[in-house]
Amino acid sequence: MESAADPQDGVTIATLAPRPDHVPADRVIDFNLHQPVPDGKSVHEFWRELIADATHDIMWTPHNGGHWICVDPDLCETVLEDSVRFSSRVVIVPRDPIGETYANFIPLSLDPPVHGPYRKVLNDNLGPKQIARIKDAVRDLTVELIEGFHSAGRCNFVHDFAEQLPVRIFMRLVALPEEDLPKLKYLADQFTRPDGTIEFPEVEANFRNYIGPIIDARRGGSGDDLITRMVSAEVNGQPLSDADAQNLCIQTLVGGLDTVVNLLAFVFSFLAINPDQRRILASDPAKIDEAMNEFLRRFPVVSDSREVRHDLDFGGVTMKHRDMVMASTVPIAMSEKSNVDALDFQIDRKARRHSIFGRGAHTCPGAHLGRLELKAVLSEWLARIPDFRLPEGESLTYTSGIVATVDPFNLEWDV
Ligand code: HEM
Repeated sequence: MESAADPQDGVTIATLAPRPDHVPADRVIDFNLHQPVPDGKSVHEFWRELIADATHDIMWTPHNGGHWICVDPDLCETVLEDSVRFSSRVVIVPRDPIGETYANFIPLSLDPPVHGPYRKVLNDNLGPKQIARIKDAVRDLTVELIEGFHSAGRCNFVHDFAEQLPVRIFMRLVALPEEDLPKLKYLADQFTRPDGTIEFPEVEANFRNYIGPIIDARRGGSGDDLITRMVSAEVNGQPLSDADAQNLCIQTLVGGLDTVVNLLAFVFSFLAINPDQRRILASDPAKIDEAMNEFLRRFPVVSDSREVRHDLDFGGVTMKHRDMVMASTVPIAMSEKSNVDALDFQIDRKARRHSIFGRGAHTCPGAHLGRLELKAVLSEWLARIPDFRLPEGESLTYTSGIVATVDPFNLEWDV
């Protein structure tokens, strides 16, 4: 058994599981999603190595409780879409303790048909029409943030910008005070990139203690914020129960606080070290829409799993009831089977295959908001700061996890 405190393990929750009898020895691979990404490699290169090292379309790793990993894009998409064979009751590895704690939140932990009516609450409130209403607010905050550091000629992109814009917009959507942001972001990050500083029941308790009184105060109220609208909604003709209201709000908070931030960090770190691509976009903003499609393909960040519902044969192996199967969005886009020269960023790529927002019933309801923010940021930033770079001697490092990210980095430009 591997030492729980081994620094190579990233977080202390990772221990090596023994290979179960139904896992063939030639399917075992050494892959730890929560491991620090080796220096000099990006998260996506790290996954490409896994794809290259895999001898089969589905492998099994002893890390994080022991789980299958789909390496082939078709199998990843099938697992995400097929809720009859693969349940989303638990989507996070390791199952214990993170996955089971996160399983308390909805709608991700619900399978169809139970999932549908809860999901409708999100669709009704995060659809294109509702999100279009905040377009000006997104642009205004983007400009305000950029203007705040423009004349300094430098910023920490993650802290000063990427962690500000989407989470502040989200805090406005849910009408929560900005001073609560650090606490909520810290809690949300524990599910996606746990740092070992807090136990998971405590994370859950903190979320519930925070959101419970807010829900009580807003239920039946006339406010136009997302929480009031969600907790005042009916599901199957009944008002949402207190427990369901909390579980829905907590999952929406986690989804809203830790995804767009990371996508922005990937996009802007890429532009900082690829001046040719940056100049194309800065000199011809009409190309931004097409570039966005390529950014969404090139930088998938979410690696969720599913729980096997009953013993079955899949991808040439026998899986047992309750086995965990990782169906990450990363190999879907990073496999050569999906995209030729998948690591290359090509604005004019003829065809693209990716599932950055997932597949099937749980496809991200926040996608409209994510796209709106990415578009505003690319347009407003490149119009004001067309040329920027990493400071001399600074290099990029990455953190893998359920939602991968670029570690905080600085940008500088001439003023
Ligand atoms: C670039 C930004 C984003 C990316 C890449 C992303 C990615 C994803 C993915 C891959 C899933 C499916 C997970 C699965 O099937 O296991 C998902 C679901 C979800 N996302 Fe997002 N997301 C983003 C932004 C957001 C935002 C801004 C919100 C909140 C406003 C949000 C809220 C959710 C929720 C609540 C679910 C669960 C949906 C369900 O179970 O039906 N996401 N997201």
